[in-house]
Amino acid sequence: EKGGYEHFMIKEIHEQPKAIKDTLSPRLGVNNEIELDNIKLSKEDLEKINKVVIVACGTAYHAGLVGRYAIEKFAKIPVETDVASEFRYRDPFVDDKTLFIAVSQSGETADTLAALREAKGKGARVLAVTNVVGSRISREADDVFYTWAGPEIAVASTKAYTTQLVAMYLIALNMGIKKGTISKEKYNEILEELKTYQQKVEKLVETKEQIQELANRQFNNQNVFYIGRGIDDHVGKEGSLKLKEISYIHSEAIAAGELKHGTIALIEQGTLVIALATQEHLFDKMLSNIKEVKARGAYVIAVAKEGNEEIEEAADAVIYIPNTLDELTPILSVIPLQLLAYYIAVTRGCDVDKPKNLAKSVTVE
Ligand code: F6R
Repeated sequence: EKGGYEHFMIKEIHEQPKAIKDTLSPRLGVNNEIELDNIKLSKEDLEKINKVVIVACGTAYHAGLVGRYAIEKFAKIPVETDVASEFRYRDPFVDDKTLFIAVSQSGETADTLAALREAKGKGARVLAVTNVVGSRISREADDVFYTWAGPEIAVASTKAYTTQLVAMYLIALNMGIKKGTISKEKYNEILEELKTYQQKVEKLVETKEQIQELANRQFNNQNVFYIGRGIDDHVGKEGSLKLKEISYIHSEAIAAGELKHGTIALIEQGTLVIALATQEHLFDKMLSNIKEVKARGAYVIAVAKEGNEEIEEAADAVIYIPNTLDELTPILSVIPLQLLAYYIAVTRGCDVDKPKNLAKSVTVE
């Protein structure tokens, strides 16, 4: 059932090109018109919305962070993102002008479901992004966008996350083009690029030997730090969660600009830092941050776009993602981070598919 792979996690990492295609292509028409199943997001529906709230847990929350970026950028609607266990207890400001988006692979997560009910009770329109047809969250939502990742068995989420990202981009672009807040040219440019992602992700998964080698040398750390800015920080959070949940190494992701406000105190000789530097307008800032941690002895593995070879002067090792539009990098940059977490956990002899203390679906609070 693992199709020749040693673990479900690595099998599911390899299934991502297909999962992305299966989620994307049924929604795209010949002229790039987006067909979002039967989700009610007409121009009139959108006029009634003055705010979007995205709520989820764990990895799905990290997809929500990228969703916030995409919706604010393309659709120019203010977006709030929260973890479900916080949202439901903070008497959130939600009303009938709110579009509430619940993101959940399983569609059964107790806190996400409770948050959905809380928002619905306050009059919000509820859209679910989920991978499981007929799940509780899909049944209670007004509208559903299904990710077509296929069954995800490994506790650590991989292909569910990348398809949730595709979902967020499609929803954001669809809102933007209807509202007229994104130009037709930009809209087409992004969708054309997204269509190349099946291939680009496939190519990235093939870099696994380079990553395995890095893992063989970097498996013995006590602490790992992920740094990045903007959507790179969102991806760093996902990479960090992946690593800690399957390898049991303490890890933390922080916005790179926050380093000097505290966390840099923890960097010492040999500390592993994963630095994401995929964003053109933030590239020089990231180079400085890399130099800061290097000056304190860190070993830096950077993730950058092909073409930005300058980074080799600052970092100890570089993993390249194919050149792409800055807006879409999370779908690519997360792949090496998934692989790194996987190979570090394997090297440490951990039970990768069933990490201790964790359940695939958290149906109790
Ligand atoms: C991490 C992971 C968890 C889930 C979280 C939400 O790899 O799998 O953090 O993402 O428990 O689960 P769903 O998406 O089913 O609501």
